[in-house]
Amino acid sequence: MKNNVRSLRSYLMQRLLISLYLLWLVSTVVGYFATINYANQPYDLVLLQRANAVAAELKLGSGHEELDVVPFLPDGSDLGMPDRVVYTVTDSEGIKLAGNGNTLRPLSYRRDRPGPLFSNGEREGQKTRMVSLTFSSNGKILQLHVSETTQQRQALIRGILANIVIPELLLTLIALAVVWYGLKQGLRPLEQLRHEVLNRKRDDLRQLDGDEAPAEVRPLIDAVNDLLERLKRVMAAQQRFVADAAHQLRTPLAGLKTQSELALRSNEPQQKQHAIEYIHTSTEHGIRLVNQLLALARNEPGGQNADNFTALNLTKLAQEGTLHWLPMAQEKNIDLGYEGASATVTVQGDTNSLLEMLNNLIDNAIRYTAPGGLITVGVSTTPQGAELSVEDNGTGIEPQHRERVFERFYRILGSGQSGSGLGLAIVAEVAKRHNAELKLDAGSGGTGTRISIFFPRH
Ligand SMILES: Nc1ncnc2c1ncn2[C@@H]1O[C@H](COP(=O)(O)OP(=O)(O)OP(=O)(O)O)[C@@H](O)[C@H]1O
Ligand SMILES: [Mg+2]
Repeated sequence: MKNNVRSLRSYLMQRLLISLYLLWLVSTVVGYFATINYANQPYDLVLLQRANAVAAELKLGSGHEELDVVPFLPDGSDLGMPDRVVYTVTDSEGIKLAGNGNTLRPLSYRRDRPGPLFSNGEREGQKTRMVSLTFSSNGKILQLHVSETTQQRQALIRGILANIVIPELLLTLIALAVVWYGLKQGLRPLEQLRHEVLNRKRDDLRQLDGDEAPAEVRPLIDAVNDLLERLKRVMAAQQRFVADAAHQLRTPLAGLKTQSELALRSNEPQQKQHAIEYIHTSTEHGIRLVNQLLALARNEPGGQNADNFTALNLTKLAQEGTLHWLPMAQEKNIDLGYEGASATVTVQGDTNSLLEMLNNLIDNAIRYTAPGGLITVGVSTTPQGAELSVEDNGTGIEPQHRERVFERFYRILGSGQSGSGLGLAIVAEVAKRHNAELKLDAGSGGTGTRISIFFPRH
């Protein structure tokens, strides 16, 4: 298993954690500035009222200013009003005329500015908020600056922020907990499935029950179920195959036992001879069957010959294969011959497997063709690649059997020939392994059989 397997849960949690953290950060920053803005408004109003009251006491703008009057302003000693308020009256050049503070005119202050101007500043290490007003008196400009420390404002801002940030933080934590728990619950059916699969017996190929699983993993469960179904079919076919093979082997072995017992018991030379001949034939059948089973196993997907493909000359292979069967054909008075390309036709393949295939095809052709018949082996090139064919004018295969003769152990009864029904199954496996297409037709003129294998071009 790969080491960097990612847990879906931790992946989602990670993403969620980052987004919630960002959300919390942004809302805190936005909240902070909004709070400052809103907290300032009522305090600014009070500060302005104070400034107006100071202006009224000093009679600023009336032409009869009383600059030596000292108005009462909070000095920070009152518990209910911890901020200290100071005032300064200056002329238009910023020269101080009266007041208990030495508040400087704010830089942005304009001489002709009619309304009040609020500004932030600092005095003796403390943050301050100041309002500046302009009065004109007898053609002169007077400015009043009233400034206060901001402890009350700060306290209010801190209070509001605490009421925003802490609940938000708590909400974030609750959201995380809810999602974590939800994911755990949501993924529980998968965990159950995992346990179920782990605890299954090795031959238990029942479908997985994905009813409880989240919709997102249903396709995966369906795919696994599909695979299980196919496995089931393959296993059933394999079991059938083993049973059939055992059954097929039992017949020659049982015959061997009976005949060998007979040979041992009998004193008559002729009977002994007969039994030994039978033993010989049975052994041959047994050997052929075992060889066919081995050929099937070799050519199955994942078999031992899987990868030894080479470029080979199909013409030569067909000609030599035909030559090998000439004596058997002659014995039955059958005209066996090669007709087709004489030049090299190259295909990618496994020589032994292809010979096995050809042998089974020629063996069938000789077996199921009456004496005096004709068998033609041929190789030709086609637009798609190459074709190898074996054609006879024998009994032929009825259309309804043409699909099934390639199944293992399938035989058409009444041919009068012995066999186990594996020959064409081997042909089919070899063709499949070579990505070749297999075709079964009647021979030319509608009699007999023609089996062609079309090899792809490489
Ligand atoms: N050339 C042919 N002409 C007529 N019938 C054929 C031909 N080739 C195959 N068949 C039919 O198809 C069936 C299946 O053939 P297959 O080669 O698989 O098995 P088999 O010849 O019966 O046994 P074996 O395993 O010994 O080859 C045969 O029983 C036969 O009836
Ligand atoms: Mg056969």
